Amino acid sequence: MAEKGEESSKPVEKYEVVFDEATGLKHYPFPLEQVPRLHWDDPTADHLMTHEMPVVLTGTELVEPALRWTLPYLEDNIGSSKHTVYISKTKKFLYFDDKKVNNVPDFREPMKKREWTFSKFVDELKGHIDRTDEYLYYQDTLTDTVGTSIKHDFVHFNWRWLNDRKKRYNWGQLTTNLLLIGQPGNISPCHYDEQHNYFCQVMGEKRCMLFSPSNFDKLYPFPVAHPCDRQTQVDFNNPDFEKFPNFRDVKGYECMVKPGEVLYIPMYWWHWIEGLPKGGITISITFWYRSGPVPNKIQYPLNDQQKTAITRNIEKMLHEALQDPAEVAPLLRMIVEGRYI
Ligand code: OGA
Ligand code: ZN
Repeated sequence: MAEKGEESSKPVEKYEVVFDEATGLKHYPFPLEQVPRLHWDDPTADHLMTHEMPVVLTGTELVEPALRWTLPYLEDNIGSSKHTVYISKTKKFLYFDDKKVNNVPDFREPMKKREWTFSKFVDELKGHIDRTDEYLYYQDTLTDTVGTSIKHDFVHFNWRWLNDRKKRYNWGQLTTNLLLIGQPGNISPCHYDEQHNYFCQVMGEKRCMLFSPSNFDKLYPFPVAHPCDRQTQVDFNNPDFEKFPNFRDVKGYECMVKPGEVLYIPMYWWHWIEGLPKGGITISITFWYRSGPVPNKIQYPLNDQQKTAITRNIEKMLHEALQDPAEVAPLLRMIVEGRYI
């Protein structure tokens, strides 16, 4: 029995997922603190971003012109090129890397990938509204194949603010603007990315859960050479505690992101993003930035971000050197067992 006052600090003993009828959202039993929601100019927001902590920013006007975007407008103006649309049998869209599929014999793709024109996507979307056996998620980069109206909108994003932030936080190059258009309830399950992200909500609302890089050992990412690299192996709805015992100690943050708001997702921070099941279509735009140059003088002890980075490098090196994914674990075990304990 737990002593009085001990309960709150103890990890979850009985893992119970609670379904909220009103919102259609599931509530998980691990502790979640609120991500602060602040005007971008608030000194606390600046402090959080300086320390690579998540924050929901208001008042940035970052993608103001995109707040007018609708599916018909995009259909008329995005151009005739093909775009990536994922098809999943469940609301979960588990990302996988095509280039790593051959590393895993018998790998079964968790979702299908299609290249469609925007019109085809809108058409298919209409046919999917009432289906519960298949869901669609448009995920494609904004490139210069878009028509003049969308180019005009893009040019009028708040680049001055962005460039100020990039300089201030010493980030590297902006690499990607991903446009995401999802059905209500679509889920991007928990994963981390290797870049900083200003995640902009344009239409509909998303529930985000975030976990700091110190949760690496609690979230059990797939091996780096696996197509699902950077994704957790833990099923939040039915965790296998035999295989993933440390998941009991996972602890994170939570927020809702609404149109016009920007969520800062720091590099290597785990995140779960979900369109409200009882909301409408969601539209989001990402701004992914590389990290800045490594400082001349590295501070020790290494922080959790740096530990994630070196772990990835060690795994990559072993995978390359051994030429066989099946040999990586035995070698790592050989290094540790009976020695580093
Ligand atoms: C991201 C991300 C998924 C989503 O922006 O890094 O994982 O469903 N987005 O919005
Ligand atoms: Zn992500």
